[in-house]
Amino acid sequence: MAEIIVSVAGKVLNKLTTLASDEVSLASGVKNDVKQLVGSLNTIKVVLLDAEEKKNHNLKLRVWLEKLKEVCYDAEDVLDEVEVENLRKQVVNCQSITKKVCHFCSSSNPVVFRFTLGHKIKEINKRLAKITVDKNDFNLTEKIDSNHVIDWDRETHSFIRDSNVIGRDKDKEMIIESLLQLSYAHENVSVISIVGIGGLGKTTLAKWVYDDKFVSDHFSLRMWVCVSDEFSLKKLLIDIINSATGQKYNQMSLDQLQSELRDIISHERYLLVLDDVWNEVHGLWLELKCLLNECVSGSKILVTTRSERVASIMDTISTHKLEGLALDQCLSIFVKCAFKEGQEKQHPKLIEIGKEIVKKCGGVPLVVKALGSLLHSSTSEQEWINVRDNEVWKLDQKENMILPTLK
Ligand SMILES: Nc1ncnc2c1ncn2[C@@H]1O[C@H](COP(=O)(O)OP(=O)(O)OP(=O)(O)O)[C@@H](O)[C@H]1O
Ligand SMILES: [Mg+2]
Repeated sequence: MAEIIVSVAGKVLNKLTTLASDEVSLASGVKNDVKQLVGSLNTIKVVLLDAEEKKNHNLKLRVWLEKLKEVCYDAEDVLDEVEVENLRKQVVNCQSITKKVCHFCSSSNPVVFRFTLGHKIKEINKRLAKITVDKNDFNLTEKIDSNHVIDWDRETHSFIRDSNVIGRDKDKEMIIESLLQLSYAHENVSVISIVGIGGLGKTTLAKWVYDDKFVSDHFSLRMWVCVSDEFSLKKLLIDIINSATGQKYNQMSLDQLQSELRDIISHERYLLVLDDVWNEVHGLWLELKCLLNECVSGSKILVTTRSERVASIMDTISTHKLEGLALDQCLSIFVKCAFKEGQEKQHPKLIEIGKEIVKKCGGVPLVVKALGSLLHSSTSEQEWINVRDNEVWKLDQKENMILPTLK
């Protein structure tokens, strides 16, 4: 479990550190709270390795790690909201379309946002402070061993809580079916892709598949790499090897790396997730593919990308085009984000307006989550109506611009 916490806590710590150094977006009180959070996480991070070693013999320690994981997850949710808000701000001064967004996200909402953000961060701080104090009960020692250097920089990680995924069962089933097919054509490794617009849930689905029991039983080696826009052979080899070995190789030459990679995959049927690929240069992909093919037959690469062109240059043998979520699924995501647990029952009128807002989100969970979070803690019917009736929806319907517009 500590590995999961390490990865989640690392991502959270990274984002918090960036946020703490952001001169613009936070009120000074909130900034101090964020700095305090960074301090607590830094104190905890150095004992995580020791906690992992001792957890099997200590139930209380396991519970402590579980609590830490929950707090990190909640912090991650809050940071996602900050990201959406920052994107909104970045575009506010640009084009006419974005002025509408600005208006849409409503002049009153930044206040609601700041208030709820400050409140949520305080809440998380309180819980993390308690966890930091409780750490003293376990006599943990600080350990940073070079064979276990924690990868604090990773952009996406492979862990997902089952209960957080709404719908997508059929998609999951279809992708797993393709992954478990033993061999295609004459290649040892085949590529399967998940394609869809931003925020649709490609990464979420890939994580869910990656974590599935059939999948983990079938592939003796699983690796998760977040590619994003830098498709550099050396960087990818390092990331793949690090994911496979749990270690950190970054001092090797390209030649040592390719030999290490081929050595790692030569005896194993592997699954490699390449998350968020943007590269459209066929030659760059071929260089990597040539090395990745030196493996046991039936290995698979699962790619997530927004672009069908990317999927096609990667010689994908099966492309899964992701559709929007159904209305009821979107509504349950929205309710989760807009209300504290169980409180929706007290607001039937808001739920009715919420249903109409959700209808306009085009099945994109990121949009649903962003709007749900935006309206969180607001019980003003008028604010909800303002979002529902905003002009921007008309524009979206014509141009299918929901996500870019929101961003
Ligand atoms: N099925 C789902 N149930 C609940 N939440 C979801 C679901 N799918 C996606 N989400 C949420 O929506 C947001 C966007 O999802 P995700 O990052 O998977 O999208 P993506 O398609 O990979 O986007 P991008 O193209 O930007 O990488 C995340 O906060 C995620 O938790
Ligand atoms: Mg993604």
